[in-house]
Order: sequence, then C-alpha cells, then structure tokens
Amino acid sequence: MEKKMETIAVLTSGGDAPGMNACIRSVVRTALAKGLKVKGILRGYAGLLKEEIIDMDSHSVSDIIERGGTILYTARCLEFKKPDVQQQAADILRKHGIDGLVVIGGDGSFAGARQLANLGINTIGLPGTIDLDIACTDYTIGFDTAVNTAMEAIDKVRDTSSSHERCNIIEVMGRNAGYIALWCGIANGAEDILLPERYDGDEQKLINHIIDMRKQGKKHHIIINAEGVGHSTSMAKRIEAATGIETRATIIGHIQRGGSPTCTDRVYASIFGAKAVDLLLEGKSKRVVGYRKGEFVDYDINEALAMKKDIDDYTFEVSKWLVR
Ligand code: ADP
Ligand code: F6P
Repeated sequence: MEKKMETIAVLTSGGDAPGMNACIRSVVRTALAKGLKVKGILRGYAGLLKEEIIDMDSHSVSDIIERGGTILYTARCLEFKKPDVQQQAADILRKHGIDGLVVIGGDGSFAGARQLANLGINTIGLPGTIDLDIACTDYTIGFDTAVNTAMEAIDKVRDTSSSHERCNIIEVMGRNAGYIALWCGIANGAEDILLPERYDGDEQKLINHIIDMRKQGKKHHIIINAEGVGHSTSMAKRIEAATGIETRATIIGHIQRGGSPTCTDRVYASIFGAKAVDLLLEGKSKRVVGYRKGEFVDYDINEALAMKKDIDDYTFEVSKWLVR
C-alpha cells in the first residue's frame, strides 16, 4: 500500500526571482492548513546534499510575501547531474521522512526534479524564473516584477537620452530568451528591439534605421538589447562611429532579479504553491504546474521539458508598427 503523505519539503533552485517567497509561504501555509508537516531545504540541491533541512511552521514564512529573493537561499549545483548524487539525494529525503518535494526553479531544476521522481520521490515543479523561458506556461514567477523593474529603469534612461539627443542601448536579462526585451521594447516605446530569437546580426540595417529615424525628427533612439544578443558596449561604440550620434550602453543587470514582487507575482506564485500541495495530496508526482490560456494547469515533467516556446510573431510585428 502507498504511504500516506505526511511531510513535504520545498526548495528553490537556479536563479532567484521575485515572488519565490510568496510561493514558499503558500506551500508552507497550504500544507499546514491541510494537516501536513513542512520542511524547508536550504540552497537548492546543493543544500539537500548537505542535509540543510529545517522545520517550517506558519511563523517561518511571516513577513515574506512582500520580499524579493528567497528565504531558503538558492544555488546552482552542477554535481546534481550525476546519477549517484541524485540517488544520494533521494536517500537523504527518505531519511528525513520527506514524502513529497516542491521544487521552485527553471527547466534545469525540473530536470533534477524529474530524476528524483524517477527514484521514487513524489516531486512537483513550479516555474520560477524572471526569463519566462519555460515552455509549458505563459507565466513564470518573477517575470512580471523583473519586466516592471526594467521598464522603470529604461524610462529614466529615455529621459536623459531625449535631453542629450542620443542613441542609448539598454541591455536586459533573459539568458537565451527575449521575453523581457520584447515586453520592455513595447512598454518603453523602443525604436529597435534585438531579440536572440529574431536578430539577424545585420548591424548596418540597425545603423540605417537610426539615421532614418533621426532624419524623421526623433530626438532619441532607444535600442533594447537582450542579454542573449549581448555586446551592447561594443555595439554602442560602432553605432557612434558610423552615425556620428553620441551613443551610450547601459546593462541593467541583477537589479532585475530583486525587489518587492508585483501583485501579479504575489498572487500567481501563491496559487502555484497551493496547487503543488494539492497535487501531492492527490498522489501526483513528476508534474510541473503552469498557467496557460487563463487557467492553472499541470503537465508531466517529461512532456513539459519537451515543449518548445517561441516569441509571438504578432507581438513582435506590433512592436515594429509602433515605431514611426
Ligand atoms: P534553472 O532551474 O533556472 O533552469 P539551472 O539551469 O542553473 O537553473 O539549473 C539549476 C540546477 O538544477 C542546477 O544547478 C542543477 O543542480 C540542477 N540541474 C540542471 N540540469 C540538470 C540535469 N540535467 N539533471 C539534474 N539536475 C540538473
Ligand atoms: O535565469 C535568470 C538569470 O537572471 C538570467 O536572466 C541570466 O542570464 C542569469 O540568470 C544570470 O545568472 P547569474 O546570477 O548567475 O549571473
């Protein structure tokens, strides 16, 4: 007979994202409300291997819904890709009486969760990354906050860009994905948006566009460049040399990863957390929760990891029509 679910654990893994705390809080409080015991695993899979496991009660998650980062800390743990290390982790979870594990992170963290599920640990993945690069979901914890942080920073650069009649390249995060860049490009009214999924590397076309826009009377030229395209500083130098227009590069960086989560991030992260607990109580394992077409859903981890996602063509076209 299958063992009754009594104790679950939660960890955060990979890059942190605003809203992870709201999610942890929800896992803990939903589990307690439904009669489960809850443990927190510190520092992702690295902490699991070192048995950095703490008991959590309702007060452990007091005053965190509004805080960025993750109270459980996070880490990248390359050795977790090794089968013997995964077996060791599964044994540790069993030793601590953990019947179910909630992993908050990105695709890499889900690959680790899948291995634990294959070793008999009931595991649920929750999408937590500012990059929005998880194919099975239209929403990931932290994206909304990150994109709003970037948008506000870019508004400020735009002010000084207009005053000095400059060209400014602003680089936003996203690893290999251009979602933050595309959203900021539209929200900030950028003249050009360079996405790793779409940019063909034709710098001369970019330069011609800057010159054309200037002739049409544009006072500034804002280029949102995705981290996946990169090279913003050297690109700025080449643009200035080719156009004669003063050009500056700003790399927004880790500011995008911190800060108090938006209302959307707090609420969706809370629902993700509760859903993970419910799935475990239903006896489900090896699932990833997502939000798609207006509904909270869940997928088999293999199915979720095999899905592909791309920039929406219509959205990208719209961004170009709005530049005149
Ligand atoms: P994210 O979860 O945001 O995609 P990473 O790709 O850095 O971030 O992955 C986070 C952690 O997940 C890694 O440090 C490692 O511990 C674990 N991980 C990543 N890929 C695998 C894999 N193929 N098998 C097992 N664990 C993995
Ligand atoms: O995945 C989140 C993210 O911030 C990416 O946008 C970026 O490429 C990466 O993490 C940066 O990682 P680190 O904090 O290790 O520099």
